[in-house]
Amino acid sequence: MTGPTPVDLVIHGGRIVHPDAIVDASLAVRDGRIAAIGTPDLMPTATETLDASGLHVLPGAIDVHVHFRDPGYTHKEDWGTGTAAAACGGVTTVFDMPNTVPAVACAEALAAKHAIAAAQARVDYGLYAFLGEETIDRVPDLVAGGIIGFKLYMGETFGKLPTPSTGAMLEAFEVVTPTGKRISLHAETASIMARREARLRAAGRGDPLAHLAARPEVVAVEAVSRAAVLAEWTGARIHILHISSAAELRPLAEAKARGVDITGETCPHYLFLSAEDYQRCGGIIRINPPVREASNQGPLWAALANGTIDLIATDHAPHTPPEKTRPDIFAVDCGFPGVETQMPLMLTELAPRHASICDYVRWSAANPARIWGLAPQKGAVRVGADADLALVDLEREMTLDDAALQSRSKISPWHGRRVKGLPIHTLVRGRFVMRNRALVPGTEGWGRSLHTIQAMPPAQPRNTDATMAAITGAAARS
Ligand code: NCD
Ligand code: ZN
Repeated sequence: MTGPTPVDLVIHGGRIVHPDAIVDASLAVRDGRIAAIGTPDLMPTATETLDASGLHVLPGAIDVHVHFRDPGYTHKEDWGTGTAAAACGGVTTVFDMPNTVPAVACAEALAAKHAIAAAQARVDYGLYAFLGEETIDRVPDLVAGGIIGFKLYMGETFGKLPTPSTGAMLEAFEVVTPTGKRISLHAETASIMARREARLRAAGRGDPLAHLAARPEVVAVEAVSRAAVLAEWTGARIHILHISSAAELRPLAEAKARGVDITGETCPHYLFLSAEDYQRCGGIIRINPPVREASNQGPLWAALANGTIDLIATDHAPHTPPEKTRPDIFAVDCGFPGVETQMPLMLTELAPRHASICDYVRWSAANPARIWGLAPQKGAVRVGADADLALVDLEREMTLDDAALQSRSKISPWHGRRVKGLPIHTLVRGRFVMRNRALVPGTEGWGRSLHTIQAMPPAQPRNTDATMAAITGAAARS
């Protein structure tokens, strides 16, 4: 006589965190999915058991904004090092940005990046495609090639990809909307920044704070407002990346109130760093949009609490020390690594900011999964979902150390910062990718592209009789 086949893993003793509750329960994993949640005595027999006493069991973070630089800039990061950093940060899914070389702007480049990621990724992923003036015609091919969404740069940033005119943006929104895909926006207006930067340079400014002076809040406010108008007109789904200022919250909240399908993210650096850190960090702090005056932090936290901002992402943007320490601020590469430090930084600051760990899983996992159509398979610790888990010890303390980062980029403004609350184990579809704070060898290639499970709600295009295709007759012909 044979009994039921044992499950692969049972985790006992942990506190499971949902967006609305914390439940002390055991959990069973079979074939990469959560097979049961309940009291210890009711768990099936298992090949392996893990004692998670003292740990909180969170859905692994879904970081919808990373730059893994591969192909093209692998001296900064590659899929192996980037996803090692994710694994050691409690992050089980990443969405990678298209500003690589070549940019993910055609089906061939997309296929090439898929091949690299499939071979090296330790965590699950989605790939963004570049949406610009020249790629509007390629939208169907890019969607067919397997993407999580589109990225549109309204302002110039690292990689210097061209920014589309408002006219091209409108047409791009018209074309993407029926596909159901969300368009993520780098919402800074190029022309305002270019003009101010030129004037600052001419005036001899090359100090770190000149970067902030070139990109005041209006740069973002104008871009968010304009993008919201175009999304409202077309019915496009949009996501505002890296919200840095209190001033952007008003156009964002107003658009939400009007029924625009608009979501937003902020990043740890806007919540924890401020203009006061430029002196200490120099060029290391240079990032787009800039870290701003400390008065923005309170409103950003409040917007997370009230849902105006939906989620936390990192904009993990690795560069090398020489690229970050050039004397002229305008010659310093923009960005710094973050995928590995987001969770400890956030867990440390929840209580002082009157937020809970339940809020945190809403921002880090549940909302990203819902917004990109990955729920209910991702983003929650529930029966049937993928066993993507971050087991965290809220009492464990550490001093962040750039030299200890998995990322190839060992330079960040977080160096020397004390944190309390660390991921101890990370599992992706039931497999340990970090165990006892150590990267698990041999996990490269375990990650999967999630475009295959993505299920966005039906598209709701508007003003379809006035689209470029409609007025030129292209819609009727095709
Ligand atoms: C990003 C990068 O380095 O790719 N840099 C940055 O300053 N945020 C690009 C971006 O997200 O704007
Ligand atoms: Zn950006």
